[in-house]
Amino acid sequence: HELQMNLEQIEKGGYEHFMLKEIHEQPDAIRDTYRGRLLVKEGIIRMAGIDDNIEKFINADKITIVACGTSWHAGLVAEYIFEDLARIPVEVEYASEFRYRNPVITDKDVVIAISQSGETADTLAAIKLAKQNGAFVFGVCNVVGSSIARETDAGAYTHAGPEIGVASTKAFTTQITVLSLIALKLAKEKGKISNSNYRYHLQELELIPEKVAKALLSDEHIKTVANTYKDAKNCLYLGRGYNFPVALEGALKLKEISYIHAEGYPAAEMKHGPIALIDDQMPVFVIATKKGHYEKVVSNIEEIKSRAGKIIGIVTEGDVNVKNLADHVIEVPETLESLTPLLTTIPLQLLSYHIAVLLDKNVDQPRNLAKSVTVE
Ligand code: AGP
Repeated sequence: HELQMNLEQIEKGGYEHFMLKEIHEQPDAIRDTYRGRLLVKEGIIRMAGIDDNIEKFINADKITIVACGTSWHAGLVAEYIFEDLARIPVEVEYASEFRYRNPVITDKDVVIAISQSGETADTLAAIKLAKQNGAFVFGVCNVVGSSIARETDAGAYTHAGPEIGVASTKAFTTQITVLSLIALKLAKEKGKISNSNYRYHLQELELIPEKVAKALLSDEHIKTVANTYKDAKNCLYLGRGYNFPVALEGALKLKEISYIHAEGYPAAEMKHGPIALIDDQMPVFVIATKKGHYEKVVSNIEEIKSRAGKIIGIVTEGDVNVKNLADHVIEVPETLESLTPLLTTIPLQLLSYHIAVLLDKNVDQPRNLAKSVTVE
């Protein structure tokens, strides 16, 4: 029997697709990311690439993050956490735009390039441009020894293990983990965070893997939600603050593997246009975790409901308000606001996965897409 299993099945470790395997690997992947770096008892974050260049980061005028696709979304989450905790101005740029728009970058700048594969042509070109302008360039890559890892001045690997599915999953959450560690470290070094808040963040970060594991237990429930909405032609994803980039990422995942048109928006932008789209044919996935503008998001949900939109809420465990309004809710454990993206992303990954499987799409190798985009 074992002999009948082909190599690919063995590599999928009992899962039907690489994507599903990689989604479920996230608790371990995040643990691998912070292993040896997050020393909770000692209250220390140890990262050689940062320690060796701490002055560059501390004295930077600003940090510019360059990336594409899902890695760009991780950069947006990082923008919130860097500015919020470390009070360093951050700009997040599509690498493809950055390289062609004569950006203002000097030797006082730090540029962080984020890339799972480390081979993305646009990101590589952005790095070269940043270096020409004298910036210090730091890489956050998954693939060890990749071109971007070699081209950058210093860096931190995500240690997520190989990601085979074209739709990025564990790369995203481990990128956010690395960037959170960096932000916390800089916040501490710059004296921008109180000792107790710093300690609290470290403790909560250490608990994330088990909370991700808990979020993954909703898999069966998410499958039924997926079945309800699999025939939608368009979907909207809404979030605010730290969860706005998660809305963008949720929409990208759905587009990539199910070929359903989806858009992510900051929830409050809805009234400036997208609300015109809402009718009873429009599923709206709303990230409405406690903390982080919860009441505001609830009123956004009311606006959708009064226009007959279908509402799927991603909520904190035990939530009642959204449950009363929404057609479906999917719960995630509670954590610090800055760490919620690591949890709210999970149900959106599973949702896209199940919709694509139900529609009989090629989940691991969607049409027209490549795992690393080495062309312009
Ligand atoms: C993610 O699901 C996509 N396949 C894609 O957007 C990807 O994130 C992007 O091409 C960047 O890749 P990289 O992280 O390897 O640089």
